[in-house]
Amino acid sequence: MRVFNIGKAWAFLGVALLATPFSWGQAPSARVAMCGACHGAQGNAVIPDIPSLAGQPKVFLENQLVLIREGMRDIPQMKGVLDNVPDAELSALAQHYSALPVSKPSTPKRPDLFARGETLSKEMRCGICHLPNYVGREQMPRLAGQREDYLLHTMRSMKSNQVAGRDPIMTASLYGISDADLQAIAHFLAQTAP
Ligand code: HEC
Ligand code: HEC
Repeated sequence: MRVFNIGKAWAFLGVALLATPFSWGQAPSARVAMCGACHGAQGNAVIPDIPSLAGQPKVFLENQLVLIREGMRDIPQMKGVLDNVPDAELSALAQHYSALPVSKPSTPKRPDLFARGETLSKEMRCGICHLPNYVGREQMPRLAGQREDYLLHTMRSMKSNQVAGRDPIMTASLYGISDADLQAIAHFLAQTAP
């Protein structure tokens, strides 16, 4: 399923590339069309396991874009996408996405799972860094309203310390947590309005 969707994204990307007469030196507008093939036209992703970028703190996006460009955060789907993109343009991309509104979740709320995730997130003090309403700040990402499948996917990989280039603080924060609890937290956060 996931492979199929990524394939579809690449098909979109091909169309976007053909339709857009861009060169690497251009303003973000041209590149944004390419990012949109995976991250959504308005920065709200519709593809499983791909994060929405809309409404993320600008500093978080800037940091991640630099890490991805330098290959420190390894994202196979984004290989080459940011090669030679200057810092100023990464900042412009971060500014663009941070200013876009976050769309409502496309999946229904499950009250029991939501309540459990809310209690766990409080007990585990996730709000100390991500803020009590989980909207993030500076280098801390917004979690409220993020895609549920991406939250679960990325927490699983951070927990098992499988991803290069992610802050080890999160591996520590998720140490020892069960997968059922991760699912509840992902559901709660995704269903929380930012
Ligand atoms: C072919 C698909 C694809 C394209 C095109 C793409 N991305 Fe991504 N991007 C991904 C995937 C997949 C991830 C998440 C990988 C993971 O951590 O599992 C990601 C992660 C990110 C992240 C980290 C977000 C977070 O919450 O951790 C940022 C920022 C980002 N992309 C920005 C961009 C920008 C800007 C562009 C255009 C210049 C772009 N991406 C183009 C697939 C894509
Ligand atoms: C000490 C501060 C701190 C605490 C506590 C903390 N986080 Fe984080 N979290 C961060 C930082 C910093 C990042 C950005 C990671 C990076 O740069 O790779 C992050 C990233 C994340 C991400 C990835 C989001 C994305 O868009 O890629 C998720 C999901 C997340 N945290 C969930 C949680 C949950 C759930 C808890 C509570 C169990 C928690 N965090 C506790 C600091 C914290």
